[in-house]
Amino acid sequence: MAAGSGDAMLFRPSGGLRGSLQVPADKSISHRAALIAAISDGPVEILNFLEAADTHYTLEALAACGVGVEDHGGGTRMITGVGLRGFRQPETALDLGNSGTTIRLLPGILAGQDGRFTLDGDESLRRRPMDRVVEPLRLMGVEIEAREGRYAPLVIEGGDVRAAIYEMPMASAQVKSAILLAGLYADAPTEVTEPSACRDHTEIMLANAGASLERKGLRTIIYPADFLQLESVAVPGDFSSAAFLLLGATIIPGSQLELPAVGVNPTRTGLLDILVEMGADITLEHTHSQAGEPVADITVQSASLSAVEVGAEISGRTIDELPLVALAAAFADGDTTVRGASELRHKESDRISSLIDNLSALGVHIEMLEDGFRVRGGPGILGGTCNSLGDHRMAMLGAVAGLASRAGVKVRGYGCVDVSFPGFREALAAVEAGRSL
Ligand code: S3P
Repeated sequence: MAAGSGDAMLFRPSGGLRGSLQVPADKSISHRAALIAAISDGPVEILNFLEAADTHYTLEALAACGVGVEDHGGGTRMITGVGLRGFRQPETALDLGNSGTTIRLLPGILAGQDGRFTLDGDESLRRRPMDRVVEPLRLMGVEIEAREGRYAPLVIEGGDVRAAIYEMPMASAQVKSAILLAGLYADAPTEVTEPSACRDHTEIMLANAGASLERKGLRTIIYPADFLQLESVAVPGDFSSAAFLLLGATIIPGSQLELPAVGVNPTRTGLLDILVEMGADITLEHTHSQAGEPVADITVQSASLSAVEVGAEISGRTIDELPLVALAAAFADGDTTVRGASELRHKESDRISSLIDNLSALGVHIEMLEDGFRVRGGPGILGGTCNSLGDHRMAMLGAVAGLASRAGVKVRGYGCVDVSFPGFREALAAVEAGRSL
């Protein structure tokens, strides 16, 4: 059970999590649906759009550029696209809050617009590296400046775009997406290669909108487009939000949870593979396709876990869930190692450092490695205080740790969960009480 004062929330030890819970809509797919609808011809209905802070920043930025954004209630949004090159220059800088996806994808689209656009965000966003999109876009002839060459604010003057062949130095779906979007405006086909597989929602949605793409393993070629046309999009549930419940139900004895209609795109579900290898009891049923994305009903019950070795090949498919592997590892038999995960240092917080600090404070033996961490398994979570550092996924990890702990966990800076999962506390309270939501 949770109790709160100010922006701190206490999560007390819980009995089994039971019932059925509809997790919020996928954040990555919601951003992409809005962005690609914005450059399509005509209106696009988005069903089950994620109503959360990050995705609202995307909608506000699009509206400021002249895109029609209507709220039809119940998660239905009508986006009236202005065509590939129809953005108008906004009067002020675009505030993108905490949203890394918006600030890294939007420049791909702005590359092809007439006008000058300034993109900025909160303190955390201003600390995150933007050179990873600035460099490839410059290679494509885009005029783009970053503070100290590396940080937001970014200033982009759109215009002509040159095709490029680009090998990404890091596995990043955001960088890949920015290049693919800019490739729509280029003078010839653009080719991008990723070092390991990372989420491919942009590729799926661009293909749905009629863009020509060729995918050969880790290489994707995008052809310049004359126009896009997107059918109505129904956004699946977010696997990254489901992950907190999957983990809670796995480590809290007596749990049995159903999570209907969750996106299970294999570029996102590395955590499933890792948990199953650790001994988790998770099944997928009724798998079908929605908006070109695989979707399934997921069932999970508590299980005993054993340690696992996680390497770079799976970390791109697990990136936002790797901190949860540390929590699972605290309950597992043996020592778990996660490597090849340096990208965690560039998230909403430095997730290697924040994980080490928080889990150590909760009684876990966790050791920092340069590109990951090692956890000594067994005793689980004692309890204590977890500091979110304004990072939504760290706040939710602290909450789940609290339910699975012996003495409870106080999460400081809890409010940032609204970035991706408003109502997270209520969702936990429902399944603690065996109620379905
Ligand atoms: C995202 C991609 C990932 C992920 C982020 C969302 C996206 O970041 O961590 O939460 O929507 O494309 P990177 O592409 O930087 O790895």
